[in-house]
Amino acid sequence: MGKNFNIAVLPGDGIGPEIIDQALKVVESTGKIFGHTFTFKKGLVGAIAIDVTGNPLPQETLDLCKSSDAVLFGAIGDPKYDNNPAAKVRPEQGLLTMRKELGLYANVRPVSTFSSLVDKSPLKKEVVSGVDIVMIRELTGGIYFGKPQGRSEDGKTAYDSSVYHKYEVERVVKLACEYAMKRSKRVTVVDKANVLATSRLWRETALEVGKGFSEIQMDFMFVDNAAMQLIQWPSRFDVIVTENMFGDILSDEASVITGSLGLLPSASIGTSTSLFEPIHGSYPQAAGKNIANPLGTILSAAMMFEYAFGLHEEGENIRKAVEKSIETEFVTEDLNKKNPRKTSEVGDWIKDFILKSV
Ligand code: IPM
Ligand code: MN
Repeated sequence: MGKNFNIAVLPGDGIGPEIIDQALKVVESTGKIFGHTFTFKKGLVGAIAIDVTGNPLPQETLDLCKSSDAVLFGAIGDPKYDNNPAAKVRPEQGLLTMRKELGLYANVRPVSTFSSLVDKSPLKKEVVSGVDIVMIRELTGGIYFGKPQGRSEDGKTAYDSSVYHKYEVERVVKLACEYAMKRSKRVTVVDKANVLATSRLWRETALEVGKGFSEIQMDFMFVDNAAMQLIQWPSRFDVIVTENMFGDILSDEASVITGSLGLLPSASIGTSTSLFEPIHGSYPQAAGKNIANPLGTILSAAMMFEYAFGLHEEGENIRKAVEKSIETEFVTEDLNKKNPRKTSEVGDWIKDFILKSV
């Protein structure tokens, strides 16, 4: 028996609307094949929400997210704010407030190489082949949210605070261990425990959590070393778990290993509703041109089926279709310079492939 799912759809800024449209085609066609239906409700977030309402995350959007089974998110950000440090409201505040309000405490970013794409990686083939990492980033704590944050009265000093509570470390390390149990049972905790008090709390807490997972092999690595090893020997990693800012930096680094940023999906796991988004940004230069790679968003939809709806076969089926489009080189210009396809053509191709798949 099929089910109906309520999905909050937040296209956001830049290429967001175009890539989200492709993901929606894929979700619909997957529903047709497997017998599920969906109610899509769109909400405003980011620069577009500031333009329309003055608020990067209007209450209406937040309510919509909270009452939905999952949130499918495009991208956020607009150059008119990046170049204006004095702007009072910024699109990114919408994203950060949403993470906090929805309790999205863990961002899960799988990084694996498609064998047909190893040549696109900036790293040597022998270094990248076989890479299969799950990067888990704590998302609602640390220096992104710690208080105090601000500027002295004379404007000559600025400060941010990195603050972690034990429970915040516990839940995200536990999630990492649960992921690892379904994989090779290895977890690397990345920190800077030789310098930071928060990192020492991380280490101590991770060890305690690890005791509850006797089969897990846990190791610890300083973040500077991890940054280096990700390039030198990425296949040594399996599940990586780390704090908010280290995770922000390392997950961008890890993403280029695959050869295209446009390919990578992510899931932000919440205490109730979870959110799914590609890891690339709003790519304003490409907005409206129908050239952006929709695969990261389509793969995020696959993660939504698995993690939010518990529908693994559906997710796997989407992944297979994406793999096929890459294999046959029916892809956008970032992956195929000679014969690039449009964003919407790739979306249609994958939709048709799915409709013929069962
Ligand atoms: C990300 C982004 C955000 C972050 C920005 C847009 C606030 O870089 O999702 O990784 O730093 O968390
Ligand atoms: Mn980032």
